Amino acid sequence: MTPLRRPVIAGNWKMNKGPAATREFFRQFKPRCPARTDRTLAFFPPAVSLMAAAEMARDRPDLLLGVQNIYWKPEGAFTGELSGAMAREAGARFTLVGHSERRHVFGESDDDVRRKVAAAFEADLVPVLCLGEKLEERKAGQVEAVILRQLDAAVSGLPEAHIAGLLIAYEPVWAIGTGVNATPADAAAAHAVLRRRLAEHAGEDAARSIPILYGGSVKPENATELLAAADVDGLLVGGASLDPGGFARIALSEVRASG
Ligand code: 13P
Repeated sequence: MTPLRRPVIAGNWKMNKGPAATREFFRQFKPRCPARTDRTLAFFPPAVSLMAAAEMARDRPDLLLGVQNIYWKPEGAFTGELSGAMAREAGARFTLVGHSERRHVFGESDDDVRRKVAAAFEADLVPVLCLGEKLEERKAGQVEAVILRQLDAAVSGLPEAHIAGLLIAYEPVWAIGTGVNATPADAAAAHAVLRRRLAEHAGEDAARSIPILYGGSVKPENATELLAAADVDGLLVGGASLDPGGFARIALSEVRASG
């Protein structure tokens, strides 16, 4: 098992917390959550707060950082965008790619997601590929079709070694910010579908080593049961990651021992 197949518990702060609020978060979080070697913890603050987060995590190398989005070009006349190399230099190890809000609020296509996944590897960032179906797609029985389309598009043309280095976050759109989480059984079913397809793309060993996180209305109260579900290798937490005490409870949830 690769070190990353240890459960990954990550906080996506979305458009919340500037540098001062970021420093305050870590001041409160660190004493509540001592370093643990049986899990990986990661934070996705807004890009302008990344260096404040890096400064606060300097004495805690177990607290890893990422950005919420990158553009696929390395530099140039792309007002408002951020390259992977810049994010790396500012302290990011990861980048989210294809988060539901990027897809559905900002109109990112499967092809944009594919380019960003490739660009992340170019910049030595680990992409966390986010995907998930909308409510109407679930009601129409299209969960598998949608998440496999998103996965296939994102890894199209990607070398197997890079596919093996991905993290995946299954985040059903209807569960994001709604208070209605997927059941552990729903999450396990979707993750199993994704893992089978990953095996077709990159082989059984790679598929076994790729962490597949669940996201959507994760809270301290449901984290343990979601983490206990088959094929759920971690959590991507939105709203509940903003509170240092609550996120420390999630981060300290009971996890399966890694082999
Ligand atoms: P919530 O935890 O607020 O539902 O958000 C999930 C999410 O989008 C994490 O990326």
